[in-house]
Amino acid sequence: MDRLAELRRRHAAAAEGGGEERRKRQHQEGKLAARERIELLLDEDSFEELDKLVTHRCRDFGMEAQVIPGDGFVTGYGRIHGRLAYVFAQDFTVFGGSLSETNAQKICKIMDLALKNGAPVIGLNDSGGARIQEGVLSLGGYADIFLRNTLASGVVPQISAIMGPCAGGAVYSPAITDFVFMVENTSYMFVTGPDVIRTVTHEDVTKERLGGAMTHNSMSGVGHFIAHDDTECLAMIRKLLEYLPQNNRDDPPRKACSDPADRMDPALDRLVPEQPEIPYDIKQAIAGVVDEGEFFEVHEHFAPNIVVGFARLDGRPVGIVANQPASLAGCLDIDSSVKGARFVRFCDAFNIPLLTFEDVPGFLPGTGQEFGGIIRHGAKLLYAYAEATVPKITVITRKAYGGAYCVMGSKHLRTDINFAWPSAEIAVMGPEGAVNIVYRRELASGEAVREDKVGEFRERFANPFIAAERGFVDDVIEPRETRPRVIRALRMLENKVDTMPRKKHGNIPL
Ligand code: HXC
Repeated sequence: MDRLAELRRRHAAAAEGGGEERRKRQHQEGKLAARERIELLLDEDSFEELDKLVTHRCRDFGMEAQVIPGDGFVTGYGRIHGRLAYVFAQDFTVFGGSLSETNAQKICKIMDLALKNGAPVIGLNDSGGARIQEGVLSLGGYADIFLRNTLASGVVPQISAIMGPCAGGAVYSPAITDFVFMVENTSYMFVTGPDVIRTVTHEDVTKERLGGAMTHNSMSGVGHFIAHDDTECLAMIRKLLEYLPQNNRDDPPRKACSDPADRMDPALDRLVPEQPEIPYDIKQAIAGVVDEGEFFEVHEHFAPNIVVGFARLDGRPVGIVANQPASLAGCLDIDSSVKGARFVRFCDAFNIPLLTFEDVPGFLPGTGQEFGGIIRHGAKLLYAYAEATVPKITVITRKAYGGAYCVMGSKHLRTDINFAWPSAEIAVMGPEGAVNIVYRRELASGEAVREDKVGEFRERFANPFIAAERGFVDDVIEPRETRPRVIRALRMLENKVDTMPRKKHGNIPL
């Protein structure tokens, strides 16, 4: 037997996947094939495929006659911006990209390698879920992957792209990973699909509304990024990786920076309106401070009252968390607390310094929030800031009221450097609310104290100077000098070491 010819036949069969007809259908739906996706994701010619010849072992339901080398999953490693990355892609043309026992083993193999060698894992999901013909063997395969997702969490970055169906328990692997990308119109995720929902709850809902890209990006928060098509999605993953270290022992990659470290931005002096209730866009503050004004936003469409994302200062990646006065006055609610907390914990796990811009009137009041557990969820953000040991810098641009003052990277949560702009107002609550409580009796008896007292409270508390006198802020700075001051602080903190007490793990209020 000619072994070389046999090897070539098997390689060709693997590359062929489910055949021309199914590939055509994939393209007609606006989706790329698994190998085409990997090619776009990785640096040119860098992909090394593993387990291309693996086949399933199912001998039921006529499966013995349908054996395709690779079994519908393409796995291996390659380079992104010259750095090692592991990748798997589900090939929808082979049994709908469904997960067999053997291709679960393929994923586990690259995840084990990623953990030992300290490099990110990227999963390109496009699958009908557990391979029905294999029953519990497939379910076991999923659980093996979930275990590895959990063990790898906080050790190597894990990224999921949803580029087709992702349903049932299969959604839990992406959910454990750090960032979930979705593609408009072609991707969806749900635990149970529209048909079952119709039977059980009599709700009528489309696939797109139930678990489409915008649903998860704007409503559930399961998705962090939305792309128009596969090509854009893969380019966005490459972009994200520019900010991330390879693993939790590595530093995030530094880039040459042509934006001067001592650049001032006079426009920042005029950013905060005189009237405390007038909104402004905190992204303008971010753009004025970071290198080249470049900000890679995460979770852009979810809980817009807090803004999170990556940028660089002095060429070094930083994670930015900022209250957004232009949305819900920048107050903290359930969604924004959870969004912020998860981002802070990611940055802390991967040695990315945190820069916080604070303008927060407090937590959002109301039964909806209280019944939904704002206490528990707000505590997550507090917990995340308190446990973070990476360099932490906070800039208070305007309001820092109540519990929200404590939460948003206050000095008391071991933030290293706290700056305030002259427009900062740091107090237990706003002057109006304070007068309503402290002078309730006088106000009830119709005494005309309100205006005087509000003025007095504003004069006394709505400024940064009491906090500065106490050392709770390290300096009150002119807005224009924020960039140089923050960069100098980051340079000072470059070798920061801080620790946590010995414990198995904490008990964040989930
Ligand atoms: C085996 C599958 C499959 C599966 C799809 N196929 N899903 N084969 N196991 N789970 C096959 C189909 O037989 C078909 O083969 C090909 O893939 C394409 O499927 P179509 O149905 O023709 O495609 P489409 O119309 O685009 O619909 C895609 C789909 C649908 C929505 C994903 O196939 C579907 O509903 N599949 C079942 C989804 C599901 O319920 N999975 C189990 C979820 S529970 P041919 O040969 O005709 O091309 C789960 C548990 C995980 O996954 C548990 C973890 C703990």
